[in-house]
Amino acid sequence: MHSTAVTRPAHSDSGSPPDTGGGPGTFGELLRAHRERHGFSLAQLATQVHFNRGHISKVETHKRTPSVAFAEACDRALNAGSTFTSIATALEATARQRPGRVHPAQLPSAKRCFTGRRECLNQLTRRLQDAGQSLAVPVAVINGPPGVGKTALAVQWAHQAVSDGRFADGQLFVDLEGPEPGTAADPFDVLEHLLRAVGVPGDNMPADLDQRAATFRSYLHGREMLLVLDNAADAQQVHHLLPGSAGCAVVVTSRSRLPGLLSRVDAVTVPLAELGRPEAAMLLRAMIGDARADADPAAVAVLAERCGRLPLALVLAAEHIVSCQHRSADQLATELELDNARLNLAEGDVVLRNSFDTSYRALDEQSARMFRLLGVLPGQVIDAAASAATAGVSQDEAVRLLRGLASAHLIRRQDERHYLMHDLLRAYAADLSRQLDGDSAKPGRQAADTALVA
Ligand SMILES: Nc1ncnc2c1ncn2[C@@H]1O[C@H](COP(=O)(O)OP(=O)(O)OP(=O)(O)O)[C@@H](O)[C@H]1O
Ligand SMILES: [Mg+2]
Repeated sequence: MHSTAVTRPAHSDSGSPPDTGGGPGTFGELLRAHRERHGFSLAQLATQVHFNRGHISKVETHKRTPSVAFAEACDRALNAGSTFTSIATALEATARQRPGRVHPAQLPSAKRCFTGRRECLNQLTRRLQDAGQSLAVPVAVINGPPGVGKTALAVQWAHQAVSDGRFADGQLFVDLEGPEPGTAADPFDVLEHLLRAVGVPGDNMPADLDQRAATFRSYLHGREMLLVLDNAADAQQVHHLLPGSAGCAVVVTSRSRLPGLLSRVDAVTVPLAELGRPEAAMLLRAMIGDARADADPAAVAVLAERCGRLPLALVLAAEHIVSCQHRSADQLATELELDNARLNLAEGDVVLRNSFDTSYRALDEQSARMFRLLGVLPGQVIDAAASAATAGVSQDEAVRLLRGLASAHLIRRQDERHYLMHDLLRAYAADLSRQLDGDSAKPGRQAADTALVA
């Protein structure tokens, strides 16, 4: 009975009318028949299915293609089993096979040695795949310090979702080139890349930002696409790029908490910290191989700690062992006792210290100075009073600066007045302070000692 719904002539994306499943016994006809049998007006059905009456009317008169989400809502409201869902699913499948239909698959490759992060992956699935009946586009923001594995997690989850059959209309991936707002990608240019990827010809490119954003939303409407916005600088950059309809989902990664984004969109935050002890050792083992890891498991554990269990440092250390055939985990762990050696961990053009540099350069002058001075504060816990004394600022000002550094994930909030700093970031900050603050930091450090004793 439904076959007529899927055998109508296909349209191309270039302007011919969409296949709306029209004709006798098809989606539109059936919808009207079921609605009238239930005695529902268009407005009453609209209230039930949470789509407006204009949308329903267009579907009934074959002017608009029903999405699977709409069909599911109709099945529920009209007690129709899976009648509407199966037609809409078949329509979608036909539309996807249409010649000329663009189907971007831009995800970078997943990592062979991806390790751990089980709870984060589940959280992403709950938010992005099981979004229920919400009409809002589901958005997840993965944030955390440099090199903690935000991109790796986003890509891993995206590949899993695709292999589970989600986002069949395509996956878009774009590097927003944060965290420095000054050098980050301009949403105007990013939209050109995205519009081309979904099939908009270059000579049809809208001339202003709002039009580009609106055209992008139009192209995504009714499609089931995943958008990964990697390395975002700020909320404003992200905001222009968001799809408007709920079949799509968005994963954003950022070193920043992206203040201002959560008030604009219904997003969940997935904060990432360094790996746990077992996962960090597992990652090293997966990369250096069982033979080397079994030769000295204790050294592997020490090496993981010297790398602060930060994935970027772990990967660089493992690559170093693998590339220098005679280097053991124990030898490298001993070398990495020195802070400088740890910060200079490098393979090819990836240098640990450079990865921290980009976050540091994004700070304003006062925050940068506070960050450097935190590196030379004694003790593990950063106290607001001690930071104020070191930097020679009021406690309120110190709290403000500490909050900003926590928002950039350069320190981690323990409570309103206490913060923690990752070992490698502390070493990096101390190194900068030695170079840039010199003796001028000494009185501050003494004052901080006094503040702590008091
Ligand atoms: N869970 C993991 N398992 C295996 N490798 C990982 C994992 N997380 C990250 N990595 C690896 O660690 C390195 C750094 O990860 P990634 O680039 O994802 O960090 P990031 O947080 O996105 O960094 P940035 O802040 O610079 O964007 C990469 O080589 C990545 O493949
Ligand atoms: Mg990244």
